[in-house]
Amino acid sequence: MTSREQEFPALLERLRPQCERIIAQYEQKRSALLPIMHLFQEHEGFVSPEAMRVTADMLGVTPAVVESTVSFYTLLFRKPVGTYIVQVCRGLACTINGAEDVMRMFREKLGVKHLETTADGIISYEEVECLAACDRATCGQVNLEFIYDLDEKQIDDMIAAMRAGTYRVPPMVQMEQPQRTWSIVQDVDVSRGRKSRGATDVPQPDNPGGIGDASGVIMLDRIAEGGLAFHGATRERLVTESKEVAELIGNDHAGH
Ligand code: FES
Repeated sequence: MTSREQEFPALLERLRPQCERIIAQYEQKRSALLPIMHLFQEHEGFVSPEAMRVTADMLGVTPAVVESTVSFYTLLFRKPVGTYIVQVCRGLACTINGAEDVMRMFREKLGVKHLETTADGIISYEEVECLAACDRATCGQVNLEFIYDLDEKQIDDMIAAMRAGTYRVPPMVQMEQPQRTWSIVQDVDVSRGRKSRGATDVPQPDNPGGIGDASGVIMLDRIAEGGLAFHGATRERLVTESKEVAELIGNDHAGH
């Protein structure tokens, strides 16, 4: 067990009242998912599996719902990253304005590739899609704060300041030392055309277990069989759907 895992129960007790206040602000508990994930990230430096699991419990959703939401956003990190996480935009406007050169300079100067952390554990580097600041291309973010009009001098100054601990953006908390990369093996498999755990043996989306499967149940069951903690809440989609919709999809759980 890592020291962070040992410290997690105490962190959870400290954050629980805040989580409850966040949840109380929303009509539906699950709407509190992203703010709670940001809260944990603020205190752990990333969103740990333990944080995702307890959040699923607090919100009454499955761990798969939490994980799929967290994995969608480049704002949330599922593994420890450096005290500074540099994200460079590779969208169209930035590419036209020289993002290729900016990315090359970061890679060379830091000695890392996309989704890697420097050996001293200080700087993580990622290339991301459009950050919606196209009028200031080329741009990026450091610890989720925008940086604009990137050029070589700015990049050099930025890296030196981060290493000296004087950069204008506060460093991230680091409850656990990062490894060389924080990419998730399962995601790499998906990007190479291999199916995710939940979709294995599902030839078409509408087949049982696919995303178009009207029950919405089987795919989550499959993911749960893969070893994730699971709390029997797989029918939550049916809970939130109206009686009419449930009848329409021919399901006998209408009105639950
Ligand atoms: S393309 Fe870079 S911010 Fe939009």
